[in-house]
Amino acid sequence: MSDFYKRALTKLDKLTAEQCRELLVSAVGEISRLETVLDSIPVGILVCDENHNLVMANKCAQRLLPMNYTEGAALWTAVLDEHITDFFKDTLLNSDRVLDREIDTALQGHNRLLSISVLPLVRQRRITGSLIYIADITEKRSRESRLRRAENLASLTTLAAGVAHEIKNPLGSISIHLQLMQKALAKSKEAAIGPLNKYIDVLNEEVERLNHIVVDFLFAVRPMTLELREGNINTLITELTGFVNYEMEQSRIRVLLELDEDLPPILMDERYMKQVLLNLIKNAQAAMGKGGLLTIATSHVDNEIRISICDTGVGISEKNLAKIFEPYFTTKESGTGLGLTLVFKIIREHQGEISVDSREGEGTNFEISLPIHEKEHRLIAYNGDSAGLAAVSKGAEQ
Ligand SMILES: Nc1ncnc2c1ncn2[C@@H]1O[C@H](COP(=O)(O)OP(=O)(O)OP(=O)(O)O)[C@@H](O)[C@H]1O
Ligand SMILES: [Mg+2]
Repeated sequence: MSDFYKRALTKLDKLTAEQCRELLVSAVGEISRLETVLDSIPVGILVCDENHNLVMANKCAQRLLPMNYTEGAALWTAVLDEHITDFFKDTLLNSDRVLDREIDTALQGHNRLLSISVLPLVRQRRITGSLIYIADITEKRSRESRLRRAENLASLTTLAAGVAHEIKNPLGSISIHLQLMQKALAKSKEAAIGPLNKYIDVLNEEVERLNHIVVDFLFAVRPMTLELREGNINTLITELTGFVNYEMEQSRIRVLLELDEDLPPILMDERYMKQVLLNLIKNAQAAMGKGGLLTIATSHVDNEIRISICDTGVGISEKNLAKIFEPYFTTKESGTGLGLTLVFKIIREHQGEISVDSREGEGTNFEISLPIHEKEHRLIAYNGDSAGLAAVSKGAEQ
């Protein structure tokens, strides 16, 4: 297409005013088609001239980057994230070519992970500017890490039976033999034997501790049998918060419930779901040593319900964030590090998902989504009278 315009340019002095007008209209049409294409691409594209001034930023780039877009402005003044402008300066001033650099940024209060590539635009062996493309890989990365966690858990589950056999059986045997030793020692009258009883007590305690670790571990990874019944998460949350109310008051934590009144019932095992909520509430409480605000909210989006448990506590460092669902990961002196492993497992068994968003020094938000099953979904979608409702319900059960 550009060849056509180049040829037309060489013959410009031979064209009539009307032909020039037609040429211009056609060029404008081409440009707007190009702009539509660029604005429809789900990747951010920035184009700079050789002096690093912005020539173009498509819609997606303006959405993904915190920026104040003005055509012709220097790239570093248009982009408002210091970390990203430093990266652009480093790369562009050195005429580097960078592919898929991953950079964190905050967009409207949410952490996003961007993959940014910078390529020099070369024409006739001369750098005439640069092309920058930006992809939002936040969801992709969190899907990958969820998958990794699920795989880790699956392999741990397979190991669990072996661990039970390998550790619990010898522990049982050690415990029995310690008791036999104590009985035998009780019959002896030798004075020197006195301290031995104390040593055996210590050994007994240690065996008991190891036994607890193994039992907790197995509980966290063993396949669980859910007894699914229709229930309302709001009721469960209200009951539980009533139950922990006094403790929260003592810890100077205000509990705020933002429950969606039209939340549909879901199929769940209440015992396990209570455990999930309690573990998350306890963790939030521990994170707010000096008191704070615990907000528990529910909502209903498409065919799932969402529960968010948000605290204003110490937050979780980025390094730790990747590990919190792993068995035994704890930063607490007396923690088992199995609480969130169990939470993760229970939610997965309910075909749900759990994600976490946290900022050090600000707080943490755990968000759970649970599916509304076909039957409940059909009931929600139905707008008719109660007789019709009963018919739909009956039909759904068949
Ligand atoms: N709301 C939160 N705020 C800050 N850190 C958290 C929060 N929830 C979890 N964590 C971090 O994740 C770690 C693992 O949590 P998990 O519930 O699995 O174990 P734990 O709380 O340490 O031990 P236990 O549950 O046995 O008391 C915690 O030690 C803590 O560092
Ligand atoms: Mg815990």
